[in-house]
Amino acid sequence: MAPDTAAEQSTDSNARSPATIAQSFYTRWARLYDTLARRAPGVGTVRSEAADALDLSPGDTVVEMGCGTGANLPYLAERVGTDGTVVGVDFSPGVLDVARERVRDYPNVHLVRADATQPPLADPDAILATFVSGMFDDPAAVVSSWADLVGPGGRLCLVDLAETTDSTWRVLNPVFRALVRITAPPGTRTMRGSPTAMLDERLVSAHRSLESRCRVTHRATHVFGFARVRAGVVE
Ligand SMILES: C[S@@+](CC[C@H](N)C(=O)[O-])C[C@H]1O[C@@H](n2cnc3c(N)ncnc32)[C@H](O)[C@@H]1O
Repeated sequence: MAPDTAAEQSTDSNARSPATIAQSFYTRWARLYDTLARRAPGVGTVRSEAADALDLSPGDTVVEMGCGTGANLPYLAERVGTDGTVVGVDFSPGVLDVARERVRDYPNVHLVRADATQPPLADPDAILATFVSGMFDDPAAVVSSWADLVGPGGRLCLVDLAETTDSTWRVLNPVFRALVRITAPPGTRTMRGSPTAMLDERLVSAHRSLESRCRVTHRATHVFGFARVRAGVVE
């Protein structure tokens, strides 16, 4: 099959790159991932809160980077209304197939297969990225480039998972580590250190980058402290 986007062409030349491995992984497990993405305890609340944190108005354009199977897209579409536009960007074809089914009844939601670190988009009002920062080599640079894309007054919201620091729930960290190890794309399992340490490091880096570029408007933890939400307005 011929490559259908620049994202695919750029990874074809390096067949075992982490990007290629991640695309195969998310394509193979798209249906199972979709069940988790919608039904995991507390995840609906987090998605709704993240969409609220973007402070969207009817008519706005909002982009979700690494939209996966589209679990956030209906929340965003409801907030921008029929005069607004929602764009979901992801580089894995399998998850985009599931997302396409999900947004069939939303004519103002568009799906683009592209690299979220270099999205082929201009001037959105807001950007959302949930459970994605841990997949970028340099999350701080990516978040900063998103701040440039929305420009001053634009909004960013990140949601990411990390070990909990809540003393009541720390006992669950070994379970979290095991889940991350099982569910991480194969390439990330062999990188230096544990996948959880890498996830933590990248979350901190992404969220600090948001804080350095934005006036922070929302900061919260959910799901026993494992899910961290940060949102802000670019200065
Ligand atoms: C853990 S899933 C999260 C999906 C969705 N945001 C959610 O909340 O359910 C990570 C997604 O990011 C996508 N992804 C990772 N790196 C990407 C990149 N550089 N460009 C586009 N998509 C990417 C993967 O294909 C996958 O669908």
